[in-house]
Amino acid sequence: PYVVAAPCIKCKYTDCVEVCPVDCFYEGPNFLVIHPDECIDCGACEPACPTKAIFPEESLPERWTEYVALNASLSKTWPNITEKKDPLPTADEWKDKEKTRDMLEG
Ligand code: SF4
Ligand code: F3S
Repeated sequence: PYVVAAPCIKCKYTDCVEVCPVDCFYEGPNFLVIHPDECIDCGACEPACPTKAIFPEESLPERWTEYVALNASLSKTWPNITEKKDPLPTADEWKDKEKTRDMLEG
């Protein structure tokens, strides 16, 4: 499956949601995750994300390995999101900045 990693934190542009054919994104306060059992590996979301937060699991940068487990666990508790919405107010400021795990709310 595809995995959402740290660059999504504080941004949540949600362009990914709009292009996903199987609606497998789940929403937390300042981050989105992909449900690994629902993702069909179509790849549509990867180029759609303005922060380049989405990767196929096999090419996820090593520093973000923990996001595989985070996507799996958080997608079981967070609500499904099926429509694009406005990015977070912090999105443009944080778009190109490095985010860390401790900034992830929820
Ligand atoms: Fe959805 Fe395709 Fe992205 Fe998987 S790879 S989350 S199915 S858009
Ligand atoms: Fe996050 Fe990128 Fe989607 S910032 S909400 S993974 S478009």
